Amino acid sequence: MTRTHPARLLLLLSVFLWKSCSCVFALSTHRRLACSRPSSPRAAAAYRNHLDDESLDIGSYIATCIPGLSDALSDELRTLGCQDVERSASSAVRFNANTQTALKALLWTRTSHKVMEFLCESPPTLKSREDLHRFILDAVPVKELLGDGRGGLLTLSVGVILNNPSKIPKDINHSHYSALTVKNALCDAVRELRDDRPNVDLDDPDVPLTAVLLGTDSGARVSLYRQLHNGSLHKRGYRSGAIHKAAMKESLAAGLLLTAGWDQKCRDARREDDAVVLLDPMAGSGSLLLEGAMMAVDLAPGLMRIKCGLPGHSMPPVVRWKHDGDMRVVDEWKALLLDATSRAKSGLRWMQSTDTVEILGNDIHDGALNLFENALDAAGLRRLVQLEEGDCSDWKPKPKREGTPFIVVSNPPWGVRLTEDMSESWESMRIFLRECCPSGTEAWVLSGNAEATKHLGLRRSQSLALKTGDQDLRWLQYILRDRSEILAEIEEKKSRRKDLNPYASKPAKRIQDTGRKNSSVPSKAKENFKQAERRRQAAIGNEWMID
Ligand SMILES: C[S@@+](CC[C@H](N)C(=O)[O-])C[C@H]1O[C@@H](n2cnc3c(N)ncnc32)[C@H](O)[C@@H]1O
Repeated sequence: MTRTHPARLLLLLSVFLWKSCSCVFALSTHRRLACSRPSSPRAAAAYRNHLDDESLDIGSYIATCIPGLSDALSDELRTLGCQDVERSASSAVRFNANTQTALKALLWTRTSHKVMEFLCESPPTLKSREDLHRFILDAVPVKELLGDGRGGLLTLSVGVILNNPSKIPKDINHSHYSALTVKNALCDAVRELRDDRPNVDLDDPDVPLTAVLLGTDSGARVSLYRQLHNGSLHKRGYRSGAIHKAAMKESLAAGLLLTAGWDQKCRDARREDDAVVLLDPMAGSGSLLLEGAMMAVDLAPGLMRIKCGLPGHSMPPVVRWKHDGDMRVVDEWKALLLDATSRAKSGLRWMQSTDTVEILGNDIHDGALNLFENALDAAGLRRLVQLEEGDCSDWKPKPKREGTPFIVVSNPPWGVRLTEDMSESWESMRIFLRECCPSGTEAWVLSGNAEATKHLGLRRSQSLALKTGDQDLRWLQYILRDRSEILAEIEEKKSRRKDLNPYASKPAKRIQDTGRKNSSVPSKAKENFKQAERRRQAAIGNEWMID
């Protein structure tokens, strides 16, 4: 017989209340704060109805990432089972999810920086600190937000993000003072209920809040979110102490690898024994290869954060504010951690016993390689990556299985101005790609300098635009082929064209190739084409006569 949990009764009651309540803020069980604006309100409502009483567990979330990686993040969220995934900006994705799926997003997404639950939103009419204070005081049910379910209070922190700041009224156009206003309003709301106030904890708060102020023509709109975790998720914890001065963020490295399809190649390797080698000839402190190794092992970034001892991740805020005496959220989190641990263990065993997936790195500086080795040790992945030291133009990587295809991923040095040293590095990269990689190699290079990439003398086949800090970057794909192979292909094309039109001269072919009139074709070329065409017609005419 099914036993009805008291929390479940409460849950049904709150559905009723929720449905009959039209205020901006609504409540449900587990101290869940339902939202007035899901990622797509209609979609979220439909999803809630569809799931019936389970619908109470559906929340609206937003995840942020490096600008340019929102497609990669959206794919990750969809794969984890999130619903109504919708890119809201180049660096943000909205989605709806139940608690378990939201916990998965926290544990498994590799490109996210923040995952936050949407709480409430004001009309776009805020003009002053008083307006902001009043809205927070009235709209936020602090008992549910800050009560710990046992009569005590949870700790909090408030951060503010200013969007479209030129249109935010001056009085609230300051992140620090607006954060203070939001925090004071919450404390006042608690004081109205009890003779107490919540503590602020800037290191590991139970309820890390983010208020986003958006400037509009009619005033500012505030949207309040609570983060599921503390700190930025781009950190895995395997780096400590000295950091390579050009190290890329772990989340960026992961996003670049996902864009290059490395995760899929790892899955194919495991399922079909399709061998593949991942190489970085200028590995530095190894972000790309470390993230590549984590994907090959199927190791969750959240698990790495716990293994490496990043504070607050084994019992993240979402688990603290969701359980409210009902241990189901704690149990769900534990089950997800157990599942992730068993996947990682089996992936590690497989990687150590196979040569289907190999990971090879190289760098010219031993200092960079030392940092890489330290990070590999911290991550427990030391045995999965082979490292060499030297100029990559001399690097001759040898996979254990002959003929295994190469995937090269790298970010050679670049600067605002290309110095001589950098030109040399790009020249070495050119030699490495042209002379040390087999035909068919897929090379992906991150560059922040268009002049630098010209050194490669290669034609890119794909390009993804990204932004870190104020730098515009490109993740460029090149498919490498042997010179002899390219020449043979050109010859074959030429002879095919000749077969089609034995009299055609070069410009005439250009017109035929595109099938369009090209005004940029010089008139002399047009004349040549016409003459060739006349000769061809005449030749056909003669043949007819002979027949
Ligand atoms: C931008 S950093 C790479 C940073 C790395 N992706 C990370 O996250 O730590 C470029 C690296 O290229 C290395 N490098 C430069 N020229 C090289 C060459 N000719 N051969 C091998 N490595 C080179 C530098 O030592 C530096 O570590």
